[in-house]
Amino acid sequence: MPLEIVRNDITKMSVDAIVNAANTTLLGGGGVDGAIHRAAGPQLLEECRTLHGCQTGEAKITRGYRLPCKYVIHTAGPIWQDGHHGERELLTACYRNSLELADKYHCESVAFPLISSGVYGYPKAQALKVAMDTITQFLLDHDMTVYIVVFSKDAFEVSSKLFKRGIDMTAVKWGNNENASGGMVRCVGSIVEGIDRETAGVINKDIKAQKFKAKVQIEQDKLRVSSASRDTLQEVIAFVKSKDYGQPLQFENYR
Ligand code: APR
Repeated sequence: MPLEIVRNDITKMSVDAIVNAANTTLLGGGGVDGAIHRAAGPQLLEECRTLHGCQTGEAKITRGYRLPCKYVIHTAGPIWQDGHHGERELLTACYRNSLELADKYHCESVAFPLISSGVYGYPKAQALKVAMDTITQFLLDHDMTVYIVVFSKDAFEVSSKLFKRGIDMTAVKWGNNENASGGMVRCVGSIVEGIDRETAGVINKDIKAQKFKAKVQIEQDKLRVSSASRDTLQEVIAFVKSKDYGQPLQFENYR
């Protein structure tokens, strides 16, 4: 499963890289920052000193030293004010820049804490949604296993509610992405444009006959395919491309 939410102490995660919810000095602190520095040992701080800090939203990388991971990616999350000071964009940048840095260092597995959701006061459910949206988007085009590591019981309860709803595709209603019970549905999708309704209808019938756990939406000259899992979506696209519908079908990912 490319994205999982687990309840653990991030310093125990045996992955290629863990992400540290640091501050802009990168010289350590409390919370997960303090836990990571304590577990890694003094050499981590020594290397951090050479990085000369980090802007909010930026990410920098060090070795993991005594931690069971190869690297630590340090990022400084935004301090929550009221949601109208660019907090979401900055938090998104933390996840995206950390993932891109992990990819640059050929990491196959990365673990994130819920950045900014502790001392920095970002509401946990909103912080989790930013994390899931940004990571899901990245995983559309990258092969990596990503863990969101929640530490506190309440964070785990919030995430269990939000993440579980993402699995139920049967009730998904297109457009506002709400399912029947009003929860946000997590799904990934691809779209084909310039397709006539009749062909779209035939493709829809063929996909249904294969009983894929995916949803097909036919609009004007577009065919949208969505699924709760990226792997299923890729299978559906490969299936459709393996058949001849009399016209080239170029699938584009979208959110
Ligand atoms: N493993 C996983 N998650 C943890 C751990 C741990 N060992 N310890 C704390 N957390 C969780 C918290 O419960 C919270 O949900 O990490 C999330 C982020 O909380 P903080 O560590 O307080 O980080 P943040 O809110 O981003 O504030 C950053 O706090 O520690 C200082 O130096 C840091 O100034 C910076 C600020």
